[in-house]
Amino acid sequence: HDHLITSKQLSRGDIETVLDYAAEIDADPSTVADRHAGTLLGLLFFEPSTRTKMSFETAMKRLGGDIVDMGSIESSSVKKGETLADTVRVIEGYTDALVLRHPKQGAATMASEFVDVPLVNAGDGAGHHPTQTMLDLYTIRENAGLDDLTIGIMGDLKYGRTVHSLAYALTNFDTRQHFISPESLQLPREVVYDLHQRQDGTGIQEHDSLEEVLPSLDVLYVTRIQRERFPDENEYQKVAGEYQIDADTLEAASDELTVMHPLPRVDEIAPEIDETDYAAYFQQAHNGVPVRMALLDLLLSDDKRIGGDNDE
Ligand code: CP
Repeated sequence: HDHLITSKQLSRGDIETVLDYAAEIDADPSTVADRHAGTLLGLLFFEPSTRTKMSFETAMKRLGGDIVDMGSIESSSVKKGETLADTVRVIEGYTDALVLRHPKQGAATMASEFVDVPLVNAGDGAGHHPTQTMLDLYTIRENAGLDDLTIGIMGDLKYGRTVHSLAYALTNFDTRQHFISPESLQLPREVVYDLHQRQDGTGIQEHDSLEEVLPSLDVLYVTRIQRERFPDENEYQKVAGEYQIDADTLEAASDELTVMHPLPRVDEIAPEIDETDYAAYFQQAHNGVPVRMALLDLLLSDDKRIGGDNDE
């Protein structure tokens, strides 16, 4: 079976297979309502989650299956010091696939080496969050299209795992990516290096201000400053509250601009934008269900249709 660990392993063909299938499911979910009757999905969330966890649960149940939830660290034997390797080896014996969120970067890669059932990375520290990327791409395709796309990705690009996964995946398409952040929260240099290798260098640019690029953007992807990842609270306070947008900010934008955010937001997007045609972030969160239904069905099916090489 395949694991889904980072978006680096996904080709354009893989992505299109998932997005096309998600669109079919979205149009008529009844076609797959009983497809995975009896299937159990194990949820292992070592960090808080609302969207990812609940949309995976919804997706598995809408495919006819059910979930088995490890629960919180406090209520599980992780509290007694059980290792991640032991935990996943035990729970794979109860379930047909695993979804893992963990604060340590690389945790999903490590855990996947101990299990035979498909393991999906639902976020590993400041690393990757590939299923978020799938629903992001689905939302971008619905609103702006994935080719000839100019996207601004703004906020915490250093610790933002949704950003890392999205940036790699977008190199499969004809996109210009503008990265907007304070200097201290720029993309890790190895990610910039990789992106240049994967895409003509002119497709990637870094900025410290939104102003200069906003009018050219089809999509503005805003992210939260990842407070929980800062080693030093003082460093967080230096950048907290930067890179917020409101109705005034968007006066310089195209009328066609799509504003996205993986959520949860703190104060990055003023609520006055929620009811405008720019806002796609709640639609984006809702798209998590058909996209995760498609992914689960493809990962649980015997015929290998996505995944490629996951030796990352
Ligand atoms: N976007 C996202 O991953 O949200 P949760 O942390 O609530 O799952």
